[in-house]
Amino acid sequence: MSKTTAAITAVGGYVPEYVLGNKELEKLVETNDEWITSRTGIKERRILKGESQGLSVMCVEAIKEILEKKNIAPEEIDMVIVGTITGDYVFPSTSNVICDKLGMKNAWGYDLSAACSGFIYALSTGAQFIETGRYKKIIVVGGDKMSSIINYKDRATCIIFGDGAGAVLLEPSTDGDGIKDFVLKADGAGRNFLYQPAGGSIMPPSHETIDKEMHYVVQEGQTVFKFAVKGMADVSVEVLERNNVKGEDLAWLVPHQANKRIIDATADRINLRHDKVMMNIEKYGNTTAGTIPLLLWDYEKKLKKGDKLLISAFGGGFTWGAIYLTWAY
Ligand code: UT7
Repeated sequence: MSKTTAAITAVGGYVPEYVLGNKELEKLVETNDEWITSRTGIKERRILKGESQGLSVMCVEAIKEILEKKNIAPEEIDMVIVGTITGDYVFPSTSNVICDKLGMKNAWGYDLSAACSGFIYALSTGAQFIETGRYKKIIVVGGDKMSSIINYKDRATCIIFGDGAGAVLLEPSTDGDGIKDFVLKADGAGRNFLYQPAGGSIMPPSHETIDKEMHYVVQEGQTVFKFAVKGMADVSVEVLERNNVKGEDLAWLVPHQANKRIIDATADRINLRHDKVMMNIEKYGNTTAGTIPLLLWDYEKKLKKGDKLLISAFGGGFTWGAIYLTWAY
């Protein structure tokens, strides 16, 4: 009997309507379209506006699309794993909220915190529950409402991030297609180069933390940039080499959308033509755990069964990794 692999069998996505363009940012901070475009590749990001609109609003829309496309009843879903750092609440998990909102009465799940690597950590985790035969239908979501933790007076971060969420359905496959291998890494020594200083148990919210603007993302951009270029390229090479796959054999590189220059460097390290690199950073910016499922969502129509894909990400923590898979439909 052939081995069971975990395959992505559907994709859904959601980005909010409001478009925050570079011109609008020019009015908020001292920056300009030329600087943002040349340093990051970003032109626009989406922002979730309105009272009481948390992450789950976007995840629910992305998952609804999957259920409708596949004609699946919510009760058939076994598990929902959400990669995010901006859940609706500190607790309960956004997975709990989503399952309730969508009537997934037989599902359980949890949120997984790995910043920009949230989706690849969650996807690899979900794959284990399928491969063991334990579950048949798992929803893996990656999404963030970054606008809830961004300081729109800080030009080092506000030009980068946006809001959005994407989701995939994982199901067992016996024809060999699906997730083949992954390399995941973490190095907590990098924790202060990209983080949210207050709001956790080390520094609970107080008047002081608010006055000092400590609930916003802090990033030492250049340091993160250097680690990201090396980290994403190294894991990409590692997972390809141990599966005897060459860069030119890949149909697509699916890279976390943090900075176009980091993406170009990763493609160059694995000798991949740039037209085989999925890219949508120009319209959504960096949606943290949302970037990779949103790429799959945008490019779904171009994907063919058997296509070799390499997913690669780097983020706060530090966390990083790469997943090698073949497309299953
Ligand atoms: O997704 C999770 C992982 N995160 C990442 O991978 C992000 C990695 N880092 C980056 O993408 C880049 O470091 C940034 C896009 C954040 C910044 O780009 P950079 O090329 O590293 O710029 P820099 O911080 O070295 O700043 C260069 C110059 C500085 O001016 P001086 O000192 O040369 O006069 C900055 O003050 O650009 C200035 N600057 C800006 N100018 C206009 C910094 N931010 C801006 C801005 N607009 N928004």
